Amino acid sequence: MFPWSYLTLFLLIAAQVNKAQRCAEFTDLNLGHAFLGTSVKVRLLLYTRENSTCATLLSHSNLSACPQLNLSRPTTFIIHGYRPTGSPPVWVHDLTDLVLARKDVNVIVVDWNHGAANVNYLKVVENTKKAGANITAFIEKMQEHGGSPSSIHMIGVSLGAHISGFVGANLNGSIGRISALDPAGPQFTGTGPEDRLDPTDAEFVDVLHTDMDALGYREPLGHIDFYANGGADQPGCPKTIFSGTSYFKCDHQRSVGLYLGSLNHTCASRAFPCSSNTDFLDGKCLSCDQFGAAGCPVFGYDVTQWKSILLKLGQTKTFFTTNAESPYCITGYQVDVMIWNMEPRQGYITIKLHYNGTEAVANIDHKSSEFKKNKETRLFAQFDKDVEQVEKVSVKFSTGKPFQPKYKLRILRIRLTHLELQATALCRYDVTLEENSDVTFRPIPCEESNF
Ligand SMILES: *[C@@H]1O[C@H](CO)[C@@H](O)[C@H](O)[C@H]1NC(C)=O
Ligand SMILES: *[C@@H]1O[C@H](CO)[C@@H](O)[C@H](O)[C@H]1NC(C)=O
Ligand SMILES: *[C@@H]1O[C@H](CO)[C@@H](O)[C@H](O)[C@H]1NC(C)=O
Ligand SMILES: *[C@@H]1O[C@H](CO)[C@@H](O)[C@H](O)[C@H]1NC(C)=O
Ligand SMILES: *[C@@H]1O[C@H](CO)[C@@H](O)[C@H](O)[C@H]1NC(C)=O
Ligand SMILES: *[C@@H]1O[C@H](CO)[C@@H](O)[C@H](O)[C@H]1NC(C)=O
Ligand SMILES: *[C@@H]1O[C@H](CO)[C@@H](O)[C@H](O)[C@H]1NC(C)=O
Repeated sequence: MFPWSYLTLFLLIAAQVNKAQRCAEFTDLNLGHAFLGTSVKVRLLLYTRENSTCATLLSHSNLSACPQLNLSRPTTFIIHGYRPTGSPPVWVHDLTDLVLARKDVNVIVVDWNHGAANVNYLKVVENTKKAGANITAFIEKMQEHGGSPSSIHMIGVSLGAHISGFVGANLNGSIGRISALDPAGPQFTGTGPEDRLDPTDAEFVDVLHTDMDALGYREPLGHIDFYANGGADQPGCPKTIFSGTSYFKCDHQRSVGLYLGSLNHTCASRAFPCSSNTDFLDGKCLSCDQFGAAGCPVFGYDVTQWKSILLKLGQTKTFFTTNAESPYCITGYQVDVMIWNMEPRQGYITIKLHYNGTEAVANIDHKSSEFKKNKETRLFAQFDKDVEQVEKVSVKFSTGKPFQPKYKLRILRIRLTHLELQATALCRYDVTLEENSDVTFRPIPCEESNF
C-alpha cells in the first residue's frame, strides 16, 4: 500500500473514534469530589431505540438542536439518588435498555451526580429541590414543543423519587406516571406532601419499599405502595455491619433489581392488599376479589393495567415476597389443614412440591401455626419456584422443641390451592405426620362434596 492509503485508513479510524467519543457519558466523580462537596449541575442524557447505547447530551434551552428527541413519542426520565462516592449508578444502562426494549420512548437519564456526590447527605437533600426545578423547566420546554406531560413517566430511585415528586408538583400533577423505587426516608419522613413525593404529584404514582427501616421511607406515598418482603429487610442481604458497604445499601438497591426483573419479564409477582406484613404472611389477605378478573396487581412496570381501579381505591398498601436473587418471584399457595388429634398442636410446616426431579420448597416458619381438631387452619405457602405440574407433595411438621416427646400430626385433610390457578386444588386425606420427618404422597383433586 502507498503511504497515502495508510493516511486514508488512519483518517477513517480517527473519524470512527471521534464518532464514538461523541457519546455523552454519565459524570464519573470520585471520593475527592464527595469530600469537597459538589453543587447542582443537571445533565440530560437521551437514549432512543435508534441510539440505545450512545447517549446524546440534550440542550436545556434549545430543543431544536437535538432532532433525536422526538416529542411525538412518550418520554421516560430515570433519576438516580444519593451518590456518596461520586461513582455512576451501576444499574442505569440495564434500566435504560429494558425500558427501550419494552416501549418506543425517549429515555432521558438525569445525571445530577454534581449535586448528589457529597459526603454530607443533608447538602444533597437540599439539592433535590434545585434539581427538580431544573427538570421542571426542561419539561416546560418540551411542552412548548408539543410534548404532552401525561405521556411522561419518571422512574426515581431513592432521592430521585422525591425529585420526581417535586417535578410533578411543579407541573400540578399533570405528569402521567411516577415509579418510586425505595424513596428516601432520612430527612423526608414526617414532612408534609410539599416536601416529599405524594399521590397528587402525577396521574398515577406507584411506589416500592425495600429498606424502610434504614434508607427508605416507611409510610405509603403513592396510589399503590408495594412492600417487598415486608419492606424492610431483603433476603440475601447481609444482616450485620461486618459485611461492609453492602450492609448499608443492599436492601435499598434491591428495589432496582426487582423493578428490572419486572421489566425483563423474568418475574411477575402478585402483590396482595393488606394492612400489615404479619397478616399477609398469616394468609389473611389472599383474596383478590376487589380487582375482579384481573386479580391482584402485579408488582412493577406493568401495574398500569390496574391504574383505573387503583385510582378509585385511593391509596392501596400491598405486600409480596421474593427470592434472594433473580428470578425473584415466588409461587404462592393457600394451604388449608384440618387435623383430628384430640389435643391442639403448635408447630411449623414445610412443604415440597415435586415434578420431574425438580423440587420447590416453602417453609412456613415466620411463626408457629396452631392446629385444632376439625377446625381448618389456613397457611400461606410461598415456594421458591413454580413447578409445571405437581406429581408429589412432601409435608413435614416440627414443633421446634427438640427436647420434648415427638408429636404426631394426624391430618384429616390438607388442601393446596395455587393462587394463580385456583381451579386446580390438590388434596390428600387422612395422613399422619411424624414430627421432623417428610411424608411424601401423590395429591388428588379435592372432593368438595365431602365437606
Ligand atoms: C439546568 O441546569 C443546567 C446545567 O446545570 C443549566 O445549564 C440550565 O441553565 C439549568 N436550567 C435552569 C432552568 O435552571
Ligand atoms: C447517536 O448519538 C450520537 C451522539 O449524540 C450521534 O453522534 C449519532 O449521530 C447518533 N446516531 C444515530 C443513528 O442517531
Ligand atoms: C437551536 O438549534 C438549532 C439547530 O442546531 C439552530 O438552528 C438554532 O439557531 C438554535 N437556536 C438558538 C436560539 O440557539
Ligand atoms: C417520531 O415518532 C413518531 C411516533 O413514533 C413517528 O411516527 C415519527 O416518524 C417520528 N419522527 C421522526 C422524525 O423520527
Ligand atoms: C433479563 O433476563 C435474562 C433472562 O431471561 C437475563 O439473562 C438477563 O440478565 C436479565 N437482564 C437484567 C438486566 O435483569
Ligand atoms: C399550576 O397551577 C398554578 C396555580 O394554579 C399556576 O400558576 C401554574 O401556571 C400551573 N402550572 C402548570 C404547569 O400547569
Ligand atoms: C424431565 O427432566 C429431564 C431432565 O431435566 C428433561 O430432559 C425432560 O424433558 C423432562 N421431562 C418433562 C416431561 O418435562
